[in-house]
Amino acid sequence: MKFDLYQNKNALIIGGGHGIGLALVKQLLEISPEYKVVATYRVSANAMELVKLHQDYPEQLRIFMIDPTSQTAVSDLSIDLSDSEKFDLIINSVGLLHSDNLSPEKSIRSFSTDLFMEVMKVNTVVTPLVAKYFEKFLRRGCASALVSISAKVGSIQDNKMGGWHSYRASKAALNMLVKNISIEFAQKRNNCIVLALHPGTTDTNLSKPFTTNTSYKVHTPEETAKNILKVINHREISDSGKFLSWDGSEIEW
Ligand SMILES: NC(=O)c1ccc[n+]([C@@H]2O[C@H](COP(=O)([O-])OP(=O)(O)OC[C@H]3O[C@@H](n4cnc5c(N)ncnc54)[C@H](OP(=O)(O)O)[C@@H]3O)[C@@H](O)[C@H]2O)c1
Repeated sequence: MKFDLYQNKNALIIGGGHGIGLALVKQLLEISPEYKVVATYRVSANAMELVKLHQDYPEQLRIFMIDPTSQTAVSDLSIDLSDSEKFDLIINSVGLLHSDNLSPEKSIRSFSTDLFMEVMKVNTVVTPLVAKYFEKFLRRGCASALVSISAKVGSIQDNKMGGWHSYRASKAALNMLVKNISIEFAQKRNNCIVLALHPGTTDTNLSKPFTTNTSYKVHTPEETAKNILKVINHREISDSGKFLSWDGSEIEW
């Protein structure tokens, strides 16, 4: 059984307010006028473009303002949606690397419990919450996909540089949750492909402070969304539980 992006028509994007999540929403809406997207955002000031998109595509796009790290909020959203709601594709694009009062540690000397707990929370709890409350909405009878946007720096095997202790640890923990959910779903949701996906360096708020001197190619959010959808499309059930890069290659855990 293969995932077919162009036959499936319903997606849920968690973290669709800006960056990679917003670019995914835009591209899914463009697939066809029948394609329906539910997108969440947290901070409305960052989500103006999504709100405008909702006005432009009132029949295709529904948007909900929630904090995706809140168990109550995710549970409430699952209650607000109709029982007959179906999703073929669910993508968690939420992630935190830095904020006004938080920056990734260059050295262990900068480690702080508060920073670690905040980054850990935002980067790890969303996927299991979504798996818990939205599993019932995953369509049966054809391949569906539950995709978490992770990061290559979360690979323990690939870690040659160190630094960014909290972010790296949180993405490694997210990867473990993805693997665990894939094992559980193989028994009870065996049509769902569960993936962790590295999007590649992308020009967004998250990467902005770190892309000036990078040797990596910096993609636009539009290029990244295209790459992500290409990697997901035609995935087999046997791919469930993999950690994949934006070019389709497999990343070591
Ligand atoms: N950009 C890159 O180069 C790159 C590379 C590797 C991996 N990634 C991963 O790609 C994913 C998308 O990131 P992006 O590049 O699109 O960055 P972005 O534009 O900063 O988007 C981050 C997303 O996370 C949400 N978010 C941030 N802080 C949050 C918090 N405290 N609580 C709840 N939600 C929060 C944001 O929503 P609000 O603003 O509404 O809170 C937004 O939806 C992340 O998982 C990131 O780790 C990005």
